[in-house]
Amino acid sequence: MSESIFSAKDGTAQGVAKQRLIETLAKPDKRVINDPYADRFVMGASIIKVMGHKLSIWLAKKIAPGFHEHIISRTRFIDDLIKKSAASGVEQYVILGAGYDSRAYRLELPSSLRIFEVDQPELQARKRRKLPKELLNSENITYVDVDFTHQSLTERLMDSGFDQSKSAVFTLEGVSQYITKEAVSSTIKEVATLTQKASSIFFISYVNELLNKNPEACFGKGYPNAEKRAKLITYGSAKVGEPWISLYSNEEIESLLARNGYSITENVTMEDLNSQHFGPVGRTLPENQLFNLEHFVIARSPS
Ligand SMILES: C[S@@+](CC[C@H](N)C(=O)[O-])C[C@H]1O[C@@H](n2cnc3c(N)ncnc32)[C@H](O)[C@@H]1O
Repeated sequence: MSESIFSAKDGTAQGVAKQRLIETLAKPDKRVINDPYADRFVMGASIIKVMGHKLSIWLAKKIAPGFHEHIISRTRFIDDLIKKSAASGVEQYVILGAGYDSRAYRLELPSSLRIFEVDQPELQARKRRKLPKELLNSENITYVDVDFTHQSLTERLMDSGFDQSKSAVFTLEGVSQYITKEAVSSTIKEVATLTQKASSIFFISYVNELLNKNPEACFGKGYPNAEKRAKLITYGSAKVGEPWISLYSNEEIESLLARNGYSITENVTMEDLNSQHFGPVGRTLPENQLFNLEHFVIARSPS
């Protein structure tokens, strides 16, 4: 696929939205998430719709078995976290690197939950052009444009009405691999400082550094051509102009969060979520299709 079909810096955001579109095309009793807005952001969405869920999944499996399910598990894991957090009274939700995420509109969340969508200005402008006007006017959603590498998140969030006295959940989904370790570290530090007066939850996904050192360890036992697949996936991101530049060890993430007062309460991969997410819809993946290279972490501040 040519690089030119992607607007500036939105190739990977489109890539994730594409997987949500494919999942949404499954019959309601066979799907793990439902994203009725995904098609608005994906180039070639009409072709994917004609192909349908089964053929799209078949094709995805040919390229990288388990990739689709891994992205969908990540989405579902965070959906559940946000629904539970909101139900237990968390008052603010900050989506860091929101991309074409539609959680703010597709989940049933209390209208009292303030939501901040944070991303780079060009991508956010494109997203807002594509969304239905009535959604954009939702009073509880605020769009905050920030580039993590050279702008202060604190300043931009405070200017946009973030309330430091209220509890908050932050998610950094599918972003840490694209930005420098310094940017991730300063973002977590800013979040910890910003939320000192109230409790906070921080979700981060990260790619395991073993992907470069021992690719077999990042896939289920018997995964075909793990090393070749690992190269293909990283090459695909670089090709759309967003290379994976930061990979982490588990210890590195644990200490990064601990330094900022966060304790990890969950650190899971697709392997842990496979039967929980795909079992009820009869789509549990066999071991040799598991894609375990990305970790999903929930960390909490002392309340
Ligand atoms: C793979 S997409 C994930 C989008 C969304 N979280 C999801 O899972 O659908 C990565 C996102 O990170 C954002 N991003 C990358 N570098 C960034 C930066 N320096 N500042 C702010 N956002 C950034 C991109 O614009 C993009 O939306």
